[in-house]
Amino acid sequence: MTTTVLPQEILLAEPRGFCAGVDRAIEIVEKALAKFGRPIYVRHEIVHNTYVVNDLKERGAIFIEELDDVPPGATLVFSAHGVSQAIQKEAARRGFQIFDATCPLVTKVHVEVAKLHKEGYEFIMIGHKGHPEVEGTMGQLDSGIHLVEDVADVAKVQPSQTAKLAVVTQTTLSVDDASEISAAVKARFPNVREPKQQDICYATQNRQDAVKVMSPQVDIVIVVGSPTSSNSNRLREVAKKLGTESYMVDNAEELKAEWFEGRSRVGLTAGASAPEILVKAVIDRIKALGAVSVRKMDGIEETVKFPLPKGLKLEE
Ligand code: F3S
Repeated sequence: MTTTVLPQEILLAEPRGFCAGVDRAIEIVEKALAKFGRPIYVRHEIVHNTYVVNDLKERGAIFIEELDDVPPGATLVFSAHGVSQAIQKEAARRGFQIFDATCPLVTKVHVEVAKLHKEGYEFIMIGHKGHPEVEGTMGQLDSGIHLVEDVADVAKVQPSQTAKLAVVTQTTLSVDDASEISAAVKARFPNVREPKQQDICYATQNRQDAVKVMSPQVDIVIVVGSPTSSNSNRLREVAKKLGTESYMVDNAEELKAEWFEGRSRVGLTAGASAPEILVKAVIDRIKALGAVSVRKMDGIEETVKFPLPKGLKLEE
């Protein structure tokens, strides 16, 4: 007779879930709603999470992609991923009241690009084509930023000169993939200037490190995150690369009972845009399937906090 093994224990990765940039971006929309009333327009999903976006929609946020969809005189928030110079300028020209929720760690990359461009640099950007952060960073200049998505792209890239070439990266990449691609760039362009501190952000690094510690200790890894979330997808890949079966879910309803058959230890984490309320719901569902205990893993305690832009306090 065979007995079905049910999940017994849930290991919770530390850190997981919201980062300082996501906290700040959501708070900007909430404060704008409290101060100016509904509707508040937001260009692109404020952060890539279905629950967060739907919640803010119910509270009066309207998410748009095109500035044509924003009426004159409206209040407009730029998403955490950042925007191109063209969008910044066009939004200002149209006279919207603008609050910029671009993560300060993305802005830091934009500032570096502008500074080095003035010194005559061209750029190789490591990132995912079509991701709004990549569009925003590449849109800091009219030309001179060449995107590479993988090592094969590095061989194809054609900068107009190689004396002044700098690397920038999307902030939410796989740390390991990015360093592999960086090494290929360095091999082809030995004089390339690399960022003093890498552009991949602390939150992405810490969440991937936590999954690396957790994966070998569990039979399956569940990542809470939306399909559009770059850093959440990378967490699932990190676990998979270590040989641990892993799935990403947008909410608890997406969990499938058969994933847990024969797997007694479940690792659980969440992308930087996934709220803890979804993690709790996932824990409840896995408990309903049999898990009896939840153990928080040891990990780095994050204390990063970014200030809000001016003009959002009720009394300002
Ligand atoms: Fe910023 Fe990194 Fe979060 S770039 S929005 S701190 S995932």
